[in-house]
Amino acid sequence: MAKITLIATAAFGIEAVVKNELKALGFEIIKVSDGKIEFEAVLEDIPKANLYLRCADRVLLKVGEFKALTFDELFEKTKALPWGNLIPENGKFTVKGKSVKSTLGSISACQSIVKKAVVEKLKEKYKVEWFKETGPEFTIQAAMLKDTALLTIDTSGMGLHKRGYRAQSVEAPIKETLAAAIVLLSFWNKDRLLIDPMCGSGTILIEAAMLARNIAPGLKREFVSEKWQMIDEKVWQKERRSAYDALKSDCKLQIFGYDIDKKNIEACKINARNAGVENDIVFEQKDIKNLWIDKPYGVIITNPPYGKRISEFKEINEINITLHKMFKKKTEWSIYVLTADELFPNYFKRSQPDRIRKLYNGKIKVNYYQYYGDKPSPELSPENC
Ligand SMILES: C[S@@+](CC[C@H](N)C(=O)[O-])C[C@H]1O[C@@H](n2cnc3c(N)ncnc32)[C@H](O)[C@@H]1O
Repeated sequence: MAKITLIATAAFGIEAVVKNELKALGFEIIKVSDGKIEFEAVLEDIPKANLYLRCADRVLLKVGEFKALTFDELFEKTKALPWGNLIPENGKFTVKGKSVKSTLGSISACQSIVKKAVVEKLKEKYKVEWFKETGPEFTIQAAMLKDTALLTIDTSGMGLHKRGYRAQSVEAPIKETLAAAIVLLSFWNKDRLLIDPMCGSGTILIEAAMLARNIAPGLKREFVSEKWQMIDEKVWQKERRSAYDALKSDCKLQIFGYDIDKKNIEACKINARNAGVENDIVFEQKDIKNLWIDKPYGVIITNPPYGKRISEFKEINEINITLHKMFKKKTEWSIYVLTADELFPNYFKRSQPDRIRKLYNGKIKVNYYQYYGDKPSPELSPENC
């Protein structure tokens, strides 16, 4: 089978997590750069990458990469690529573009040159002058970075964060891909107690439960490349079947989610049911001030509100102080907080953070403060960890 290069795109800061996911899926990594992890594959790997990657944004098929300083160069080098092997005669194709620090700075001009070059190439291949574009979708991305053009075709369609379970949204939810990444970056594992005291729509906890039960994140959604003839539908069926076979039904999880807002808790329950983890998480309406922690060991992963208005600062400071009081003596608990509030460590004074990771929640720069708890003693039964 012919080798191809796929690119998993990811939010800035979580490339290493995606790289590890790809390695665990058996892929050979070619290159990691800002927001992109290139890996070696064959066409039949496209279903596997899309179904299983929890933290990547999309999976792109790399068609070519070359220097382009003039529009002529962009046209000729694009036309020289094997578009006819990828896009069928009835293929519906659009070109998206971006340009960063490049001589060819006009995105719309780059887009139309690339489209023209692809059309010319397909005309030669199919010996027609006009394409109806009534068939499957092929979204070409023409990305110029420092005068190098990277041409890819999107295999995912909707972003991979759209698992399909979040029917009920709340204010300021985090993306499912980021939630999965912060769980993977923590010391939590399926035998440990996990609490999100400000769980919003439950994303962090639902992703944790899906991880524990080995539920492939893409199991319940479609991907644009499912309609491509070049990938036999049997490959998709086989990959989905093996994802169902790999589900773990025998684990007993201790996951708890709380939120001050009753509507959010209702949304959590619906989302968890849609994700197939409703029996794994206990959701309850509760103000963090009324949360009582009586277990000796556990993990908190949370994304508190962070506001911009003065009235919100007071509320946020109170939440930070509550977290500090709750955990100042509980050094056995690991605390992970994703927030844009740079003052968080000034309030949570148990210790200096063991690690601060700079991440992005959409376009908002956030910090992931990590405070490691002591390791559970080996004599403790799992329900006390
Ligand atoms: C940034 S949102 C969390 C979003 C969540 N990570 C998600 O993906 O849906 C912060 C949440 O904190 C909740 N919250 C605010 N004050 C609270 C308090 N005193 N106790 C518990 N929850 C609170 C809000 O209702 C909101 O849902």
